[in-house]
Amino acid sequence: MAQILDGKALASQVRKELKSRVSEGVQNGLPQPGLATLLVGDDPASHVYVKFKRRACEEVGFQNFHIELPSDTSQADLLDKIEELNQNSEVHGILVQLPLPKGLDEAAVLEAVAATKDADGFHPMNQGALMQGRQSLRPCTPLGIMRIIEESGMDLNGKKAVVVGRSNIVGKPIALMLLEKHATVSVCHSRTADLAAEVRAADVVVAAVGRAHLVQGDWIKEGAVVIDVGINRLEDGSLTGDVDFEEASKRASWITPVPGGVGPMTIAMLLSNTLKAAWGE
Ligand code: GUN
Repeated sequence: MAQILDGKALASQVRKELKSRVSEGVQNGLPQPGLATLLVGDDPASHVYVKFKRRACEEVGFQNFHIELPSDTSQADLLDKIEELNQNSEVHGILVQLPLPKGLDEAAVLEAVAATKDADGFHPMNQGALMQGRQSLRPCTPLGIMRIIEESGMDLNGKKAVVVGRSNIVGKPIALMLLEKHATVSVCHSRTADLAAEVRAADVVVAAVGRAHLVQGDWIKEGAVVIDVGINRLEDGSLTGDVDFEEASKRASWITPVPGGVGPMTIAMLLSNTLKAAWGE
């Protein structure tokens, strides 16, 4: 039976460490880190996510600058707002919650955020730096996943990792980070010919597609580490991941639950990125 990788507990530990670093740093004259959260439109899930992010921000002693704009905001007005935040010296990190309402150009918006304030690690400059294995602000969910894998004690060197999903936010960056730790990485997606066979060969599985229980329990290799990034709402209102947790936990050595796995770590890494942007460390 798999052991649980408790992202909620790990995130709480990370926040505690950040909180004491912030209070010590500020006492020593460093600026109070500030994160701006920008929310456009009325996507209910986005409102919930941003509420959690703002709460976490305040809990560790950051300033939060929050801006909400209506769904009919023009591209030019949104870019103006971002430029204001870029110029504000109290703002060290900027987060534009995705998805943006239809009609807004997401790529142009993410590129408008100053790369040095890109707390989400979505700017093409930061994503390019990651591709070259250089230090940069890196996307939060993959950073959180790497921290969780570290907790499992698995040494990735020479292991086979299978990533299911190829988004810019999770699939592609986590593949690069696993590669950096010397895993042999396959990135699978909706056109992969035999997904079951790929997953069956994996020592580490990262599922990030957003389809409830796509990864079946009997696909999991005995002793594999299973990281479930999916947050899918079922008809009864409950949340579930991309992996069939019940069945997969009979074979995995370690597994993340949904909720309480990767999600809380994403927020902890957002705070960690903001601190890095503020203090340059
Ligand atoms: N939407 C889904 N995940 C994320 C994330 O990590 N950051 C932002 N800004 N939007 C998201």
